[in-house]
Order: sequence, then C-alpha cells, then structure tokens
Amino acid sequence: MVSVLEDEMADSPSRAEIVDMLRQHVEAGCTDMLAEAPVNHFANHSTPPQAPLEPTHEIKPEIKPEVNFKPAAPQLATPQIPTANAADSAAASAEVAAAADSLEALQNAIQGFDGCGLKKTAKNTVFCDGVAGAKIMLIGEAPGQDEDREGKPFVGRSGQLLDTMLATIDLSRAENLYISNIVPWRPPGNRTPSAEEIAICRPFIERHIALAKPDMLLLVGNISNKTLLQTETGITKLRGQWQTYEADNISLPALPLLHPAYVLRRPETKADVWADLCALKTRLAG
Ligand code: URA
Repeated sequence: MVSVLEDEMADSPSRAEIVDMLRQHVEAGCTDMLAEAPVNHFANHSTPPQAPLEPTHEIKPEIKPEVNFKPAAPQLATPQIPTANAADSAAASAEVAAAADSLEALQNAIQGFDGCGLKKTAKNTVFCDGVAGAKIMLIGEAPGQDEDREGKPFVGRSGQLLDTMLATIDLSRAENLYISNIVPWRPPGNRTPSAEEIAICRPFIERHIALAKPDMLLLVGNISNKTLLQTETGITKLRGQWQTYEADNISLPALPLLHPAYVLRRPETKADVWADLCALKTRLAG
C-alpha cells in the first residue's frame, strides 16, 4: 500500500511545483474559470468546445435612454491563432476601423477583429460606457480584470475612484461623459500593453473618437497620453496642461490626467488631481 502511494506520489507534482504553476497562471491573467473542464482550442478547430463558454455571472448591458447607440452586449472572445506580423495587423485594423461608419459598426468590427493577440486571453471586448455623443470623452489604457469580466471600462476599484473624482465636478457616465480605452482587451495579468499591441489597436480608438465626436478629451494615464498625443513626455509632467489631439483632420483639446490606479497607489497625488479637475471645471464653465 505504502509503495503504491509512493509510486503515485512520485508522478505527482510537488507542492512547490503546484504553487509555481498557479503563480504562472495568475501572472498570465488566468484568474477566472470559464468552464468546468479545460478545452484545448488548438487541438481541433472544427470541434466545438466540450463545455459551453458561458460567463459565470450575468451580464446586463446598461440602457442609455438619450442616445441612439447602445453598446452591444459584451461577447466572449473567440480563441485565435496569433498573427505573425504586427505591421500587417496594424494595417488590417486601420482598414477595418476606416470602414466603420457608426459606433455600432466599429464595435462589431473590433469584436470581429482577430489581429491582436490580447483577444485570445480576454473574456470580453471592452468598447465603451457612458453617453455616446457626450461632449467629453475620457480614454484610459486597457481593461483590467473587473472590466474584462463585465465588458465595460473602468468598473473596478480605479473606476470607482474615477467616478468619485469626476462627480466632484458634476461629470458622470450616466449623464455627460463617454468612456473608452486605448486597448479594448485586457492584457494578461494587467501588464502594460506592448508597443505592438498599442499600434494594432490605435486605429480603433482614433476612429472611435472620430465617430463619437466629443468636444474634448480627458486622457487618463501614461499610455493614453503617449499614444494619442504622440509624446514621450511622462504623465506626471503633462498632467493638468491642455494639449491638442490631432488625427484624421480632427483637432481637439485634450487634458492629461493622472490614472486613478496611480492615485490609489500614491494617495498624496490626490491634490494634483483635484487641481486638474478644478481647472477642467473652470474651462467647462467658460
Ligand atoms: N484602467 C484603465 O485604464 N481602463 C480601464 O477600463 C480600467 C482600468
């Protein structure tokens, strides 16, 4: 009996190995269970998944009464083989984005786009939240775990802080704010999106801005500012100073703001955010 157990244990991974495997999964962003049994999507593409890939929670798309465009219910991302060439993918995303003539068409186009590897590991394509057609469009970096799960931007801890901060100057996604991200898919483990991933997704957010037609942009965090202002200046220097976003014959005032996740880590920066929001309020009143 003892020797049978010893034989079995000899084949089993050690506790340290199991902990290491779990750690690798968490770092890769595999923190949620999609189905009861594992599915090897690469084994046979013609075979349907053995278990339904249903989210383990109910997703209720928010209804916005005053706009024509209602974001479609988030869809589970279909696992795809990674594309080899990022430049080709960026060209493909530019073509797909340019062809979209409405927000709804753009959302569908992004959901159907398979040229970005991030989509493979994300549960949802996170397109937008808030009031389409609002004068102010806020753009963050990329969805985190909560956003990926719910299919909406800024719904986790940093999103809650963002809502609280903006409420102090009477801005809310329920009334007068439209929100999106540079990258619509969660990078595994919440890592920063790579330069290639950003290059592939950039045509989407540029087209998103063109179709949403805001009067001004709030650019939240380093990636949002660096990508849309095409600057190497860091957010701690840029914050609070009005910039100009220029793309596709569009020119818009853009205010760089500290990312709420950074403010959560560095509470002493709340005063800076407060000063920037006061400046924004003054501009909105003027
Ligand atoms: N951080 C972002 O930049 N965007 C989100 O949607 C959530 C967290």
